[in-house]
Amino acid sequence: MECQNQDVDCSDGKRIKLDSSHDSRMAASGRQFFVGGNWKMNGNTTSIDGIISFLTDGSLSGDQTEVVVAPPAIYLQYVRQKLLASVAVAAQNCYKEAKGAFTGENSAEMIKDVGCEWVILGHSERRHKFGETDELIGEKIAHALKAGLKVIACIGELLSERENGKTTEVVFKQSKAIAENVSDWNDVVIAYEPVWAIGTGKTATPDQAQEVHHQLRDWLSQNVSPDVSAKTRIIYGGSVTAANAHELALQPDIDGFLVGGASLKPDFVKIVQARSS
Ligand code: PGA
Repeated sequence: MECQNQDVDCSDGKRIKLDSSHDSRMAASGRQFFVGGNWKMNGNTTSIDGIISFLTDGSLSGDQTEVVVAPPAIYLQYVRQKLLASVAVAAQNCYKEAKGAFTGENSAEMIKDVGCEWVILGHSERRHKFGETDELIGEKIAHALKAGLKVIACIGELLSERENGKTTEVVFKQSKAIAENVSDWNDVVIAYEPVWAIGTGKTATPDQAQEVHHQLRDWLSQNVSPDVSAKTRIIYGGSVTAANAHELALQPDIDGFLVGGASLKPDFVKIVQARSS
């Protein structure tokens, strides 16, 4: 590689060292690898203690990889208090208002108040099982960012949409609804999660995922800015496992993963290490 052991300036103004090791791609893009674990509606204090201990014992690739876990809302504070500080904690959802008569909802302000930094918004299960619209997701994103949370904003097409050649149309429309509500892209990670791959064991192939990630990066360049396109992490989600993570992580526009089922198991540590393994 020509660029071995050189210092380069990144788009965000930081100066980084390129080397020939595993993280040269991260250095070249300036985008830190990001792995989120979405526990969904799973776990109890006993099983969560088990997850906390494998996260504590495992080597989580130091500052090469940003790691975030998203427990059910009722366990956010418990996890935040017990987990090592280098792993961030996310909520899986929040409402678009700070407080008030919204029975059953949690606000971004509350999530922040218990020490958590992130929220997942627009997950396909919220979109398709709870009827969340692009408009509502946009409002939630705007509010969460304003309240000081960082956002993992999820998009992805249904199998029927992919089969009808509508993948880009769908993910661009979802991206537009997100982009219109983003005040600071430093606080946003986009998760591309094809709905047909979530929880099904059918992972997108590295080529399929890379193609959409690349199209999304182009979309960001044309519709937001080249700078935002270059620095925003676009992570992949949908049946990521320790067995397929490494090959996906080699794709130039895949900056990490949002992991569901496998984030509940010790193998999650291997997924965190996918870029460096
Ligand atoms: P999965 O879920 O890894 O179980 O497919 C991914 C997600 O829903 O974020």
